[in-house]
Amino acid sequence: MDHERELLMIPGPTMVSPRVLRALAKPILSHGAAEFTEAYTETLRLQKSLFMTSGTPFLISGSGTLGMEAAAANLVENGDRVLCIENGFFGEKWQEIVPGHGGVADRLTFEWGKAVDLKLVKERLGKGGYKAVFVEHVDTSTGIGNPIEEIGKLVKGTDALYVVDSVCGIGGMPLKMDEWGIDFCLSGSQKAIGAPPGLSLFCLNEKAWKAIEARKTPIADYYTNLKRWRPIMEDPKKYFATPATGMVLGMLEALKIIHEEGLEARWKRHALFSKAFQAGIKGMGLTSFPDEKSLAHTLSVPKLPESVKGSEFRAAIGKFNVITAGGLGAVADKTIRVGHMGSDMVNDITATLSAMEMALHQLGYVKEPGAGVGAAMKVFAKA
Ligand SMILES: Cc1ncc(COP(=O)(O)O)c(C=O)c1O
Repeated sequence: MDHERELLMIPGPTMVSPRVLRALAKPILSHGAAEFTEAYTETLRLQKSLFMTSGTPFLISGSGTLGMEAAAANLVENGDRVLCIENGFFGEKWQEIVPGHGGVADRLTFEWGKAVDLKLVKERLGKGGYKAVFVEHVDTSTGIGNPIEEIGKLVKGTDALYVVDSVCGIGGMPLKMDEWGIDFCLSGSQKAIGAPPGLSLFCLNEKAWKAIEARKTPIADYYTNLKRWRPIMEDPKKYFATPATGMVLGMLEALKIIHEEGLEARWKRHALFSKAFQAGIKGMGLTSFPDEKSLAHTLSVPKLPESVKGSEFRAAIGKFNVITAGGLGAVADKTIRVGHMGSDMVNDITATLSAMEMALHQLGYVKEPGAGVGAAMKVFAKA
C-alpha cells in the first residue's frame, strides 16, 4: 500500500500539514544555535497562547504520558489524596500513575462513554482534603468530551489543584486554562495540534508552582522534575537535557498554522467535522458509542453492527487506503475510533465516510452505499 497517499484517520497520530513536514526536513541544528533557541522561545510563546494562560509553558521530548507523569511527580507527595475522575481508558491511567508517586487515588468512576455527573463530583469534593483533581478533557477511548469548565467551577471552591489532560482536546476544542481555573494542563503533539508524535506540552500556573515550592519531600524523579526544566523554558539557551531540535521546528510550524487559522475558527471547524461525521454515521445506519450530549469534536466512535467485527471492518476499510483505529477495552471489537482533527479537511471526512460505507457494503451490512456520505455532505453544504 502507498502510505504516502493513505488517509491516517486514527485519533492520533494524525496527518500533518506539508508545511510541518518541510520544517521537519530542515538540516539538524545545534541546540545552542541562535536559530534554534529563538525558534524554541517563539514556540513556547505560541504554546502559552494556545493554552490561553499566563502560566509557564513546558515543551519536552516525550509523549502525552510524560505530561501525566510530570503532573503527579511534581504535585503529589506521599499520602496526598487525589480525586481521579474517570470515564474511559485514559482516565483510568491516573490510578496507576498517582500511587507511583506516593499519592492515594480516590477514583470517581463513570461507565466508559458516559458523561461525568457533576452532582457526584460536587458531592465527592465536598468531603474535602484533596490535594488535586485529575480529569481528561476528552477520553480518546470512547470519544466522550468532559465538562472541564464546569468541573473547574466546582474545584475552585476547594484548595485542590486542578489538573486536566487535554491530549485529545486542545487545538480542536475550547480549552481556556486561566479562565477555567486549570492549574496544570497537559497535551501531546500528535493530535489536534497537528504535529508528529514526540513532544509533550504542558503549562503550570502560580498556584501549581507554589504547591511545588511548598513540598515537604523532594521530587524523586530526575527527568520530570520541573524545577530542573523551568530555567530552560524561561531561557532556551540554557541546558538541562538535549531538546528534540527538529521536532521543535515542526511544532513551531504547527502552532503558527493554528494561530493563522485562529482558535475560534479552529474550534468551529472541529465542531462542524463532528456534526458532519455524526450525520454520516447515522446516515449509514450506525449509532455512536459515547453519550450524544457529551461528544468530543476531535474524534467519533461509531458502534459497529452486530454482524461486523472491528478487525474485519478495519481490514476492509484499509483496502480503500483509509486507516481507522480499533475500539478499546470491553468494546474493542464492537466500535471503531476515527479521528477528525488537526490538519484534516472536509474532503478527508467525506472520503472516510464513503470508504466506511463501501467497507460496510462489502461486509454485507450497507445495501446502497451513499446515504452516510450524503448526510455529511448536506451538513457541510449548509455550513
Ligand atoms: C486523553 C489521552 N491522554 C493521554 C494519552 C497518552 O498519550 P501518549 O500516547 O502520547 O503518551 C492519550 C493518547 O492517546 C490520550 O488520548
